[in-house]
Amino acid sequence: MNKQSKNVTSDVTNIAQRGKVYGEKKPFTFKRKIAARFNEIIFKKFGIVMCRLMVVIGRQRAGYIYNDSDYFRVSSLELIAYEIYANTVSGNVAEVGVFRGDFAKNINKAFPDRKLYLFDTFEGFDEKDIQLETKNNYSKDGHDFSGTTTELVLRKMLHRENCIVKKGYFPETAEGLEDTFSFVSIDVDLYEPTYNALYYFFPRLQHGGYIFIHDYNDGKRYTGVKEAVLKYCKENKIPYFPLSDNCGSVIIMK
Ligand SMILES: C[S@@+](CC[C@H](N)C(=O)[O-])C[C@H]1O[C@@H](n2cnc3c(N)ncnc32)[C@H](O)[C@@H]1O
Repeated sequence: MNKQSKNVTSDVTNIAQRGKVYGEKKPFTFKRKIAARFNEIIFKKFGIVMCRLMVVIGRQRAGYIYNDSDYFRVSSLELIAYEIYANTVSGNVAEVGVFRGDFAKNINKAFPDRKLYLFDTFEGFDEKDIQLETKNNYSKDGHDFSGTTTELVLRKMLHRENCIVKKGYFPETAEGLEDTFSFVSIDVDLYEPTYNALYYFFPRLQHGGYIFIHDYNDGKRYTGVKEAVLKYCKENKIPYFPLSDNCGSVIIMK
């Protein structure tokens, strides 16, 4: 165990505490609590880590701390945030397609000193996007995502003061916004807003910045997302990396 990893981990290895930060009601079973405590004691006393340690994000890599979200998606975000800070990439952060803020809260936490733009109608899909989906036979889900409010989202944010709510139809809500970005999450499910979000954000992405696009490899539910990503990447000769998370995100970078 080198000195650096020991310092990083000792700050944040309180696993039960991390469970609470992610808003879980019942983060651990009794057995897991005992195991986590045992791991901590062994680490503190002998410097030995009993499960895999991901030094750059300062904690053990244990999937069960994310009961309420997608472990691979969130831990990839954390690793990417680490790269962005390590490489001193400037730029704010954004999510297009926020719904109840369950991924946005992780962005807000991973970038404590950056403005977080939250783009969403906060009333579900727009009729004109749905018509295009139906015409092209893209979406097959039927979920409308209207059950949310901006207040519900903001209550989940650790650094609420960093949040800028952009309520309404994207890309109209981006008009007049002059900013650059280091990280953007696009999670709008549909063809048109996915393409528009890439069209808007990629030119404004800093060198060394990343864009996550959710549902790229989701398969049957939101096929328009993949079409939009492939079209934009082909037109602009952008390589991409498929992530093995729950809904098959894809990552592009500059
Ligand atoms: C799957 S949900 C987002 C889930 C969220 N990112 C999460 O991980 O919890 C998709 C969201 O995209 C929003 N959306 C879709 N098209 C949009 C558009 N053109 N403008 C603004 N918001 C849009 C919907 O209102 C919905 O809340």
